[in-house]
Amino acid sequence: MTEKDFIPVAYTNDKATGVVSYKAPSNIALVKYWGKKDHQIPANPSISFTLDHCATTTEVAYSKLEQAAGDFSFDLFFEGKSKEDFKPKIKTFLNRIEGYLPFLKSYHFIIRTSNSFPHSSGIASSASGMSALALCLMDLERELNPGMTDEYFNKKASFLARLGSGSACRSIEGDIIQWGNHKETQGSSDLYGIKYPYEVHEVFKDFQDTILLVDKGQKQVSSSVGHNLMHDHPFASRRFAQAHENLFKLQSVFEEGNLTEFIKIVESEALTLHAMMMTSMPYFILMKPNTLEIINKIWSFREASNTHICFTLDAGANVHVLYPAKEKDLVIQFIKDELVAYCENGQYICDKIGYGARKL
Ligand code: DP6
Repeated sequence: MTEKDFIPVAYTNDKATGVVSYKAPSNIALVKYWGKKDHQIPANPSISFTLDHCATTTEVAYSKLEQAAGDFSFDLFFEGKSKEDFKPKIKTFLNRIEGYLPFLKSYHFIIRTSNSFPHSSGIASSASGMSALALCLMDLERELNPGMTDEYFNKKASFLARLGSGSACRSIEGDIIQWGNHKETQGSSDLYGIKYPYEVHEVFKDFQDTILLVDKGQKQVSSSVGHNLMHDHPFASRRFAQAHENLFKLQSVFEEGNLTEFIKIVESEALTLHAMMMTSMPYFILMKPNTLEIINKIWSFREASNTHICFTLDAGANVHVLYPAKEKDLVIQFIKDELVAYCENGQYICDKIGYGARKL
């Protein structure tokens, strides 16, 4: 499919008012998206586990204007309170998607949104937030064009969410989502995420993710700035090639349930992401001393316990601890005994692989 396939022809129905609500999950990348081209096209393909508990719930109430307005007309409430400072980001998003949803200036929207996790947790809400909003707007488009298939609905929701935030396109469906052209993955696209199309061993069906909140502060570097630093980066082309290779290696890992190889790929991806940040110009370090303490503890515990615990990181200091469900009791005890001390205010979030967004 190309961008043109997401431009609607003509709507068959009319809809004056309505309310729709979606709960969309966050996701954690195993092979990381870091670097992008114009129009939110990723520099390399990525793959993620959809999460279950960490999610954004968004309600959109819409009413048709007597006359289409010159600009977007919307009110925004975050956790019950009017949020003027979030509006520019939403406006940028609406501008980017208007060509694909031509009705946007014909309605007034009241957007109410909230997260299941604390706003100041250092967990990015852009993936779940943009996907929840994209789904609500797609629901209105489906009212206007009821013939739409579920497959098209999900693809276009992912396509629109990507234009809000790249990783958001991986937060529509579950449980493993791949985004970005990859020659060994049938159906993969730079334009939207797809459900991972090959066999996945049952050990990955209920994988756990405990998120250790090491630093709940605001991000030091926005992801847009970070992605841009991959232009003219001395190691960029090798890194992009490595992401393709890791995705290919994951195919047999997923099929066989090979946890030893899974750990190598996932931890190497996390450290490579941070290595890219440390070797860009300007350079920066987003890990904190406690991030490193936790990583070393995980490595010692893995060796001593013969479990398959591993870690991944996003563009921040928090640590995602990944492990199979059957090792949950042992790992949670280890986290409580040895890792919680490194979390800000002892905070962590227990999450697991999830199966995608839900209409409420
Ligand atoms: C490190 O999706 O937040 O989490 O497209 O600029 O909104 P924008 O970036 P964003 O980048 C996420 C980067 C990452 C890795 C990943 O999720 O793949």
